[in-house]
Amino acid sequence: MLDAAQTTDVQEETLLEVNNIEVIYNHVILVLKGVSLTVPKGGITALLGGNGAGKTTTLKAVSNLLHSERGEVTKGSIKYRGTSVHESEPADLVQKGVIQVMEGRHCFEHLTVEENLLTGAYTRKDGKAAIQQDLDLVYTYFPRLKERRRSQAGYTSGGEQQMVAMGRALMSRPETILLDEPSMGLAPQLVEEIFGIVQDLNEKEGVSFLLAEQNTNVALRFAHYGYILESGRVVMDGPAAELRENPDVKEFYLGMSDDGRKSFRDVRSYRRRKRWL
Ligand SMILES: Nc1ncnc2c1ncn2[C@@H]1O[C@H](COP(=O)(O)OP(=O)(O)OP(=O)(O)O)[C@@H](O)[C@H]1O
Ligand SMILES: [Mg+2]
Repeated sequence: MLDAAQTTDVQEETLLEVNNIEVIYNHVILVLKGVSLTVPKGGITALLGGNGAGKTTTLKAVSNLLHSERGEVTKGSIKYRGTSVHESEPADLVQKGVIQVMEGRHCFEHLTVEENLLTGAYTRKDGKAAIQQDLDLVYTYFPRLKERRRSQAGYTSGGEQQMVAMGRALMSRPETILLDEPSMGLAPQLVEEIFGIVQDLNEKEGVSFLLAEQNTNVALRFAHYGYILESGRVVMDGPAAELRENPDVKEFYLGMSDDGRKSFRDVRSYRRRKRWL
C-alpha cells in the first residue's frame, strides 16, 4: 500500500508540459498566443473552449502535426517527461508513449474494424502474442467493436468509428492519449458511453488523457482538471469540480446561472459581464 505522501507524489508527476507556446499558420495567422498547460500522470485533463478557440491547434502542436497544415510553433516549449519534443516526429512521440486521436475519427474505411485496430500496433516490436493480448484488451473495453470486428469500418456508426479510433490508439500501448473532440456529432447516450470508457481506461489501465472538448458539461464531469481556451489564450484553469461551480463557467459554458437558464439574448452582454476579461 502506498502511504498518502507517496500517493500524492504519484499523482503530481508531470508528463506533458506546454509552456507559453505561440502558433502561427501560413507565417501570418497568430492562433495560439501563449498557451501553457500541464498534464499529470494518471489524470484526465480537459482543454475546453468554443469553435476556433485553439484546442485542436494545441493538440497538434504537441504531437507535431502542424507542419502538414503550414502551422508552426514560433515561441515557447513543449516537454514530455522533461525532454523537449518540439522537434520530434509524430512517430517518435508514439514511441515515447503519446498518441493523438484526431478530431473527426479517421478510420481506414475499406479495412475491417479489426484490421483498423491492428494498424495501431505498427510501431510495436514485441510480437504477435502481445499484440493479440492487447486486441483482446481493447475488446473488453469496447465490446461493440468485438461484435463488429469483421465489418468494414466505413459502414459502422459514428460512435463505433470513434471507438475504432480510440481502440487503434490503445494498440500502441500509450501512456498518454491526446483525444480531440470525442463527443462530436454523437447522441448524448453515446457520449456518456465514450466518456465512461475514457474514465475506465484512466482508472484501470492508468492511461493519462488530454482531451479537447466543446462539450464543457460532459468534459468537466469526467475530467480532473480543466483549462478554458478563448481566442488562443487560456482564460481560466482549475480543478474540474471548481470550474463546474464557477459562476462564469456556469453562465457562459454550461448555459445556466444562479438566476436561471440564460437565453440567447443574454449572450450580448457576454463580454461586458465576464469577470476574467
Ligand atoms: N490550417 C490552418 N490554417 C489557418 N488557420 C487555421 C488552420 N487551422 C486552424 N486555423 C485557425 O486557427 C484557429 C483555431 O482553430 P482550432 O481548430 O485549433 O480550434 P478548435 O478550438 O479546435 O475549434 P473546434 O472546436 O471548432 O474544433 C481558428 O481560428 C482556425 O480558423
Ligand atoms: Mg478542434
